[in-house]
Amino acid sequence: MTISDPTQQTLAQLGITDPEAVTQLFAEVRQTFDKQVEVHSQDPVNWRIFLLKWTGRKSGVLSLITDNWLKPAPPELKRAVGQELNQLKAHVESSLADRQAAIESAADETATARERIDLSLPGVERAIGTRHLVRQAYEELFRIFGSIGFSVVEGPEIETPYYNFEALNIPEHHPARDNMDTFYIQGARSNELLRTHTSPMQIRTMEKQPPPVRIVVPGKTYRRDNPDATHGYMFHQLEGLAVDTDITFCEFRGVVDYFAREFLGPKTKTRLRPSYFPFTEPSAEVDATCHVCGGSGCRICKNSGWIELFGSGMVNPAVYGFVNYDAERLSGFAFGMGVDRLAMLKYGVAELPLLFQNDVRFLRQFP
Ligand code: PHE
Repeated sequence: MTISDPTQQTLAQLGITDPEAVTQLFAEVRQTFDKQVEVHSQDPVNWRIFLLKWTGRKSGVLSLITDNWLKPAPPELKRAVGQELNQLKAHVESSLADRQAAIESAADETATARERIDLSLPGVERAIGTRHLVRQAYEELFRIFGSIGFSVVEGPEIETPYYNFEALNIPEHHPARDNMDTFYIQGARSNELLRTHTSPMQIRTMEKQPPPVRIVVPGKTYRRDNPDATHGYMFHQLEGLAVDTDITFCEFRGVVDYFAREFLGPKTKTRLRPSYFPFTEPSAEVDATCHVCGGSGCRICKNSGWIELFGSGMVNPAVYGFVNYDAERLSGFAFGMGVDRLAMLKYGVAELPLLFQNDVRFLRQFP
């Protein structure tokens, strides 16, 4: 409203003298309001200004009408002005309240629309890692040996010749050292080497704890092999050692059978072939009936019906001498498995390098 805004003037100034003119005047104000409410309810900033303009205490239209029209009205018009003003007030307040409610619910709606989840959208695929095949094989082995009382211990990959060889009854110049072409460390630790097997942990464990001992030792081992389909310079082993006062060859055989059945299936049978390791006596290679053909011969077992599982034997009493165990009273058995090989056998993997190239197309086949 401009300076000629009628609400700034009194009724007398406006030349209004009878009740009909008052009604007419209020009708015009109401029309103006109705028009403006439409326009200004469209955006929130204008809306606030508009609210103040009509309902503001000091100079809102309703206050101005009270001050300029009602208060100074001549007695004969007072009643009419009062009634009209009340109606106008009621109308203004209720339409403002309605609009306000409409505005707020519209705002709510846009907010929920923004936050609404579209269930038809394709989901975000998060690549969740899986355990590596070698890790899976280890966990299976831990489960099997854990179920018959073996606990898991780990040891260093960099070893001294004493633990890797001497204390295992492999003196210097012993031909058994040749089978395990060894990586020797250069520089500050040049008297050390990368362990060629996990057997050093037999010694470290017996040094630390009195019998009985029932442990399995997982870990990486290193040999100077020429890499091919079944060899690398690193492979994983699981060492086993059980020492107690009355462990017989029968118990050893029982553990071997139990392991083979758990790992390869309940029909699996085993056989022992004589072998040689300086730290076991007698020593044996353990074979199992082929889990693929059941022993009749196939590609996996190279038509022999048997697959080679691991090397093993009864602990050589000479070893007890290195750890101050009483060889008269104690006996035990030990074994050393190639875990990569066992995993390949069990899961039908043809080439060792596949295990370590970490090609996801390969890894995804073993979730
Ligand atoms: N340490 C032997 C190897 O790596 C395996 C083995 C362990 C054999 C324990 C007998 C007893 O070949």
